[in-house]
Amino acid sequence: MRFLRKAWEWFDARTDASKIIGPVMNHPVPPGTGWKYVFGSATLFAFLIQVFTGIALATAFVPSAGQAYESLQWITHEAFLGRLLRGMHYFGASAMVLLVGIHMIRTFLTGSYKFPRELNWVVGVVLLGLTILMGFTGQLLRWDQNGVWSTIVAAEQAGRVPVIGAWLARLILGGQTVGGATLSRFFAYHVFFIPAVIFAMVGLHLALVLRHGISELPDSSRPVDPRTYRSWYENMLRREGVPFWPDAAWRDVVFGAAVVACVVVLAWRIGPPLLTKPPDPTIIEAYPRPDWYLLWYFAVLAQLPPGTENYVIVGAPVLAGFCLLILPLLFNKGQRAPSRRPWAVASMVIIAMSVGVLWYQGKRSPWSPDFGATQLPAHVVQATDPQIAEGARLFFEKGCQYCHAIAGSGGQRGPDLTYVADKLTEKQITLRILNGAFNMPSFASSLKPDEASAIVAFLDTRKLPH
Ligand code: HEC
Repeated sequence: MRFLRKAWEWFDARTDASKIIGPVMNHPVPPGTGWKYVFGSATLFAFLIQVFTGIALATAFVPSAGQAYESLQWITHEAFLGRLLRGMHYFGASAMVLLVGIHMIRTFLTGSYKFPRELNWVVGVVLLGLTILMGFTGQLLRWDQNGVWSTIVAAEQAGRVPVIGAWLARLILGGQTVGGATLSRFFAYHVFFIPAVIFAMVGLHLALVLRHGISELPDSSRPVDPRTYRSWYENMLRREGVPFWPDAAWRDVVFGAAVVACVVVLAWRIGPPLLTKPPDPTIIEAYPRPDWYLLWYFAVLAQLPPGTENYVIVGAPVLAGFCLLILPLLFNKGQRAPSRRPWAVASMVIIAMSVGVLWYQGKRSPWSPDFGATQLPAHVVQATDPQIAEGARLFFEKGCQYCHAIAGSGGQRGPDLTYVADKLTEKQITLRILNGAFNMPSFASSLKPDEASAIVAFLDTRKLPH
């Protein structure tokens, strides 16, 4: 103990470290902010998880088209702690997106972006954008079917931007299509460039927080007036301020530690997402699914009426970013209390509900086949003769179930066939299967006659029980 103290004194005498750390830890903060103010620091904890696990993963990951997939397989299945680290990096990313979102909602609802903290918000919006870019570039580094196709889709979207589209698409891909150059490029962005900008922005964000102090709890009897706010705030801190450490910071530490613990437990119990197949240039029809935090946006894109896509794909994110950036410049004074800002609360509720609904649709994605469909259980088939049982098996094996559900199992791309025999005759069913229809492939050439009749025999049993 004595040695440690001596060592610290030696160090401090030469660096003045305590003169820097002391004021930061002891500076007074407004009283009573409570648990709603922990999400900013928790985001920082999640970011630090990403930095540490990311560095560890980068030591074993090979950013080349020939070896990336294998090196990740090796990390996941063989490297010491590799599975845990990949899992932590995945769940850490999810935590970061989630916490940035909650932190933004909180600062929005408590009007913390108002004078003099407008630029804290603006820097925060930039950090949100950078966080999303990290998620997007990270997805490609998996170098599997999903990651590669998501990037192709994004590059196609970027290519639709007027004037600079072609240039933008090349900037993303590093060539005409996704290949080794894209992977090297995304690796450099993901590992060097974007993190460097994030570090700088986090530094700026924190410097601004220290400069202006954290916002006090909103009080409807005291709207923000830029002319008097500063002196009022400083007086209030002198009268009622509590030291940051430990009075307020203990909650940050407890919550941050809980976030880290959750990420570790999830990574250990659930593990990283399985890699889908290695990218295969011969598969031209793919249904990439982005990571969950972009799924709602995917739902928007999938459901746009044709013709409006170009405007929405490019326009919506630009408009949303623009609104977020100018928000504190337009509304920097007046009421902060949510009870006195009905429009702010209402718009928050509407945005949250829309994202929720879209996310749910993205999750179900009725517009794309469900390649995870599993064979129909026996109690659903209720086969009394072997031909019907064979038909049920073929229904799964020939891929009908990717698009059609029976008794709740299967995709939503085509109509539900649970009671198809009540609606169509045997002949109509046969014709539909052999001829196909809009969005339904024709099976005339890929089913043998006895296979087709087995499937029809099975579907003909699908009636409401009388
Ligand atoms: C790529 C997705 C897809 C696959 C795979 C698929 N279908 Fe379809 N199916 C559809 C769509 C979409 C429709 C609706 C077509 C329309 O607009 O009439 C449909 C319609 C049908 C209908 C008529 C249902 C009704 O209510 O009108 C039957 C029966 C049918 N499919 C059976 C099958 C069988 C059997 C298979 C497998 C051999 C199969 N489908 C494979 C997408 C698919």
